[in-house]
Amino acid sequence: QNNVPNTFTDAETGIVFNSWGIPNGSPQSQGGWTFGMALPSDALSTDATEFIGYLVECASKDAAGWCGFSLAGPMTNSLLITAWPHEDTVYTTLRYAGGYAMPDKYAGNAEITQIRSSQNSTHFSLVFRCKNCLQWDHNGSTGGASTSGGFLVLGWVQAFPSPGNPTCPDQITLEQHDNGMGIWGAVLDENVANPSYTAWAAQATKTVT
Ligand code: HEM
Repeated sequence: QNNVPNTFTDAETGIVFNSWGIPNGSPQSQGGWTFGMALPSDALSTDATEFIGYLVECASKDAAGWCGFSLAGPMTNSLLITAWPHEDTVYTTLRYAGGYAMPDKYAGNAEITQIRSSQNSTHFSLVFRCKNCLQWDHNGSTGGASTSGGFLVLGWVQAFPSPGNPTCPDQITLEQHDNGMGIWGAVLDENVANPSYTAWAAQATKTVT
C-alpha cells in the first residue's frame, strides 16, 4: 500500500481525509481496502487523542466478512478496531490482543460513534469517530500512536467469514483472518489536520452496540 497519503474529500460529509490502501485486484487482499483518517487541527504539533476514520472500502462477499485495523501496527499490544456489516448496519468492536489469538474486548475508555455507513455485495464503508483511541490502557498494558511526528505505523487485516454473534459486538467470535494482513508506515501530511475537525466530529451521533 501507499505510504505517502492520498487526500480526498468525502462528498457526503465534506470531511477531508488522508488515505492509504491496496487497490481492488492486487494480490495481497481480494477486493482491496482503503483506510482514511482525519485529525484535529493541531494534531501535527500536539499528539491527538482521537481521529475520524473512514473504512472506504473493506472487502466483503455477499455482505459477509470483516476488516480490522491496528493502531500501532502489529496485532499484539495495540488497540484494534474490527468492523463488519450485518443487515443494514456496520458494527464495530474495540479489541486488544496479548497474543495471536482471539483478541479480548478492550478494557479502556475508547469509544466509536458513527457518522455514516453503507454496503453493497462486494464492499462496506464506515465513517466513524474514534474517541480516546490514540493512547490506550488495557488493564495496565499501555501504548499509543503519536500524531505529532507526522507518521503512524498502522496494521490492516481482512477476512471473509462473518463474525459469530454479529449483532452483539462484545460477544463476537472470529476465525483467524484469511484475506491478507500487513503493517504499513502511514505518512501524515498537512491535509490530515483540519480546523473543521470539531464540527465534523460532532456529526458522529450514532452509537451501535
Ligand atoms: C497477524 C491470528 C484476529 C490483526 C496474525 C497472525 C496470526 C493471527 C497467527 C500472524 C500470521 C503471520 O505472521 O503469518 C489471529 C487470530 C484471530 C485474529 C487467531 C482471531 C481469532 C485479529 C483481529 C485483528 C488482527 C481481530 C484486528 C482487528 C492482525 C494484524 C496482523 C495479524 C494487523 C499482521 C501484523 C502482525 O503480524 O502482528 N493474526 N488474529 N487479528 N493480525 Fe490477527
